[in-house]
Amino acid sequence: MTADLVLARGRVALPAGLVEADLLVKDGRILDIVDPGAGRGDAVEDLRGRVVLPGGIDPHVHFLIGFMGQRSVYDFGNGTVAALRGGNTTVIDFALQRRGRSLMDGLKHRRVQADRHVACDYGLHLIATDVNAAVLAEVPAVVAAGAHSFKVYTVYEKEQLKVEDGPLHDLMRALGAAGGIMGLHAENASLIDHAIAKHLAAGETAPRFHALSRPALAETEAVTRGLLLAEDAGCPLHIFHLNAAGALAAIEAAQARGQRATAETCTHYLALTAEVMDRPDGHLFVMSPPLRDTVHQARMWDGLARGSLCAVTSDDASYSAAAKALGAESFERIANGVPGVEARLPLLWTLGVESGRLTIPQFLRAWSSGAAETFGLAPEKGSIVVGADADFAVIDPNSRRMMTTESHYGAIGYNPFEGFDLAGWPVLTIRRGAIAVRDGAWLGRAGEGRFLTRRAH
Ligand code: URP
Ligand code: ZN
Repeated sequence: MTADLVLARGRVALPAGLVEADLLVKDGRILDIVDPGAGRGDAVEDLRGRVVLPGGIDPHVHFLIGFMGQRSVYDFGNGTVAALRGGNTTVIDFALQRRGRSLMDGLKHRRVQADRHVACDYGLHLIATDVNAAVLAEVPAVVAAGAHSFKVYTVYEKEQLKVEDGPLHDLMRALGAAGGIMGLHAENASLIDHAIAKHLAAGETAPRFHALSRPALAETEAVTRGLLLAEDAGCPLHIFHLNAAGALAAIEAAQARGQRATAETCTHYLALTAEVMDRPDGHLFVMSPPLRDTVHQARMWDGLARGSLCAVTSDDASYSAAAKALGAESFERIANGVPGVEARLPLLWTLGVESGRLTIPQFLRAWSSGAAETFGLAPEKGSIVVGADADFAVIDPNSRRMMTTESHYGAIGYNPFEGFDLAGWPVLTIRRGAIAVRDGAWLGRAGEGRFLTRRAH
C-alpha cells in the first residue's frame, strides 16, 4: 500500500522515547513506522533535525466564554487555529448547562456554536449547574452522546455555576453508574468568600489579594472533600487546574489506595509564581486557583515526573488586556483566566524536557497521552502508534525564540509568558494526515475539525 505522506528521517517520539524513523500516513492514519529513509509515498516531508511529537491534546480550553461580564477573544474559529499553531490537534472545551435547562440543551447549543468553525478536532466536557431528578435521568444519554466527562464548580455562585455537595454527590452517583467521570473546579467557597469580604472591608483591593483570598487550604479542602464524595458515589474523579501541594498529596493518597482519581495542572502554574501579581500589570495574572509560590510549583513538576498528574493543560481563557484592566481597581471584578493554548508546547518542552525536569515519556504523558487515556480518546489520539490518527506536532528543538504579545494568534493584547526565551516551537502541525499549520501559517479550513464522541469507562 502506498502512503499518502511520508514524514522522513525525523526523531519520532514513540511512547518509549525518541527513535529516528520514517512515519507513513494513509487516509489520515498512521500506516507504518519504518527505518529512516525506507518510506515511500506520494508526498515526502524531510524532517532531518526535527522531532516529531504526537499532536497535542489540550483537554481544558474555554473558547467563546463569557464570564464576569467579559468575553474571550478566542471563539471556536480563531481559538482552534491558535491551538493548531501551538501543535495541538485536539482540544476539549465545555458545554454549559444553564440553570433551569437540560444538560442536553447545553450540549446541543455548544455544538451549534462550534461544529462549523473548528479547525482542529474537539470534544466537550459538560458543565452541570442545576442538578434535579430530570437532569439525573438524562445523564446516560449525555454520556452516550460523547460527553462522558463533567465539570462541576464548587465556587462562583454569583456566576450561577456553583453546585452544592448534596446535588454533586447525586450527580456523581448517576455519572459513575453511566461510566462517566466527574471533574471538579475544587476550591472551598466559604473560606474564599469570607477572605474576600475581609480584604475588601480593609480596602485591600490590589490583584495580589485575589491570590491571598484563595489559599492552598481552600483548594486542598475541596479536593479532599471531592475525593470522599466521589469514592462513596463510585465515580471516577478528575481535578481540573490543580495547583496546591496538599491537594496533590490527597490525590496521590487516593491513587495509592486504588481510587480512580486523576488531576491536571496548567502551564501557568509551572511557569509563573504569585510575585507577578505585584507588577503594575498584575491584574493580567488573576486566575483561579491562583498562582502560588515555588514550593507548590516544584511539587507540580514532581507530580508530572511521578505520573500522579496526568496532563498539563492551558485552561485557555483569552480575555483581552483591555477586558482584564476593566476590573483592575478591585481584584474581585477581574475576569479570571489567562490565554495559553499556543504556549503549552514550547513551555513544556523548554521548562520540562530541555531543563531535565521531564523525560520524553513523562513529557508525552503531560502533552497528549495522559489526556487521551483519561478522557476516552485513546488509542486513536495521544500517541504515535500504528493505526492511530496521523496527528503530529513537529518541532525544531534547536531554534529558540522569545514569547511576546505578538507571538500568539489574535488580538489579546498581552501574553502572560512574555519574555520567556523558548525552544520547541512547532514548525508543522498535521491533523489526521493533513498539514494544518506550517511555520505559523494556517493552511486549513474552518469546520474541518471533528467533534469527538469520547468513550465511557
Ligand atoms: O481562572 C480560571 N481558571 N478561568 C477559567 C475558568 C475556569 O475556572 O476554568
Ligand atoms: Zn475552573
